[in-house]
Order: sequence, then structure tokens, then C-alpha cells
Amino acid sequence: MSNQDELKKAAALAALAELETLAPESLIGVGTGSTVNHFIDALASRGLRIRAVSSSEASSTRLVAHGIPLASLDDAGELPVYIDGADEIDHGFNMIKGGGGALTREKIVAAAARRFVCICDEAKQVATLGRFPLPVEVIPMARVQVAREIARLTGGEPRWRKGFVTDNGNHILDIHGLAIIDPSGLETALNQIAGIVTNGLFARRGADVLLLATATGVRRSERKPSDDRR
Ligand code: 5RP
Repeated sequence: MSNQDELKKAAALAALAELETLAPESLIGVGTGSTVNHFIDALASRGLRIRAVSSSEASSTRLVAHGIPLASLDDAGELPVYIDGADEIDHGFNMIKGGGGALTREKIVAAAARRFVCICDEAKQVATLGRFPLPVEVIPMARVQVAREIARLTGGEPRWRKGFVTDNGNHILDIHGLAIIDPSGLETALNQIAGIVTNGLFARRGADVLLLATATGVRRSERKPSDDRR
């Protein structure tokens, strides 16, 4: 296991403590990615009796393989907690997500949760979001037109993630070359472009808790009310 993967695993294991107050058979939201894969494996190896609303086909497959029951969002109502990774997170708990292409379902499940717990390694924490290309899910027929609009709006360079189709049957544009000064404003502005399903900025619904794995241990921090941009 690489050093970064060890840190991802440490963050994932730390997330188990966030579930301690939940009643058995509680429903939680589960994100997508290699960090979350460690979390799913840890849920199973500890034998925790929970049910999950999943944010992707990949996570669903892994949850089911471990015998963890799935529930649909329709049946779930409000979730006490959503656990997911990030591609970048800033000091205001705004994130870029969607490196794995699951951003739309991640945003939907996160919106249903009272608390978003972000699990990641220290390489993901940045002063300004944007070095990681910002993923945008687009309706396939609108891809070229949306790319033009994005370039005009942001000054960044949208690149088609060729050969990749989302769980919803759509395409992804990754916007390169951004330095995102106003994450919430850009999240809202991008969503006004016809043909965009979702963008990977999680600012209007950012993280509430960050479990950041570092070389000296996992640091837990909570978003302060003054960070609130919703
Ligand atoms: C998937 C995501 C992931 O949370 C993000 O890409 C982080 O992935 P990893 O844990 O593999 O580094 O948003 O759409």
C-alpha cells in the first residue's frame, strides 16, 4: 500500500467513530472513491449493523459484496450522516469532488444528510481550490456548447473525459486552469448553463467535519458557523 493509501485508510477508519451514536440499523450516506472503499471495508470488518444509501454503482457493488444492505433515497428520508472523500478541500470546508465521476449522485445524497464528514489525506487540503480540474457532468448532446460557455464564464479550459460515461449516462468535462476565489458563486453560476447536470464544487453544501489524515495522525476539525456560505 502506498503512503497516500495508508493515509486514506487512516482517515476512513477514523470515520467509524462518527457513527458511534447511531442506533443499530441506522441509514447512512456513503460516497465514492478509494478512500470510501477503505471505509466500506472497515464497516464490514467491524461488523457494524448499518444500512447505506449509496452514491454510485461502484460503491453499491462493494457494499452489497460485504453484505451491507442498501436503501433508496426515497425510503431513507433525512440521513444522520454522509461519509465521502474529496479531490480538494479548502480551509472553509469547500470541496472539489467528482474525480471518480460520481459527483451528481454524491451531491444528491449529501443534500439529504444532516452532517457531511469528509475523509481525506493531507495532500487534498489546499488554500485555493482549482489545481485539481473541476469536473462537470453534462448531457451528451450539449457537451460542445457547454464547453464553450464554460470557457467564456470561467476562463478555464474544459476537457472532455473521453470514454467515460457516468452512472446517469452522461459525460464529464474537467475544467483545467482555475483558481477558485468564490467557490459558492462559481457553483451557482455553472449550474445556470443549460446542459450542465451538476458541477463538482461542493460549497453551498460543503463538509461539516473534516478527518484529515497526516503523517502524525488524523486531525478532526469542524466547520465554524462563520464559514457558512449556504
Ligand atoms: C468521486 C469523488 C471522490 O470522493 C474523490 O474523487 C476522491 O477520491 P479518492 O478517495 O479515490 O481520492 O468525488 O466522484
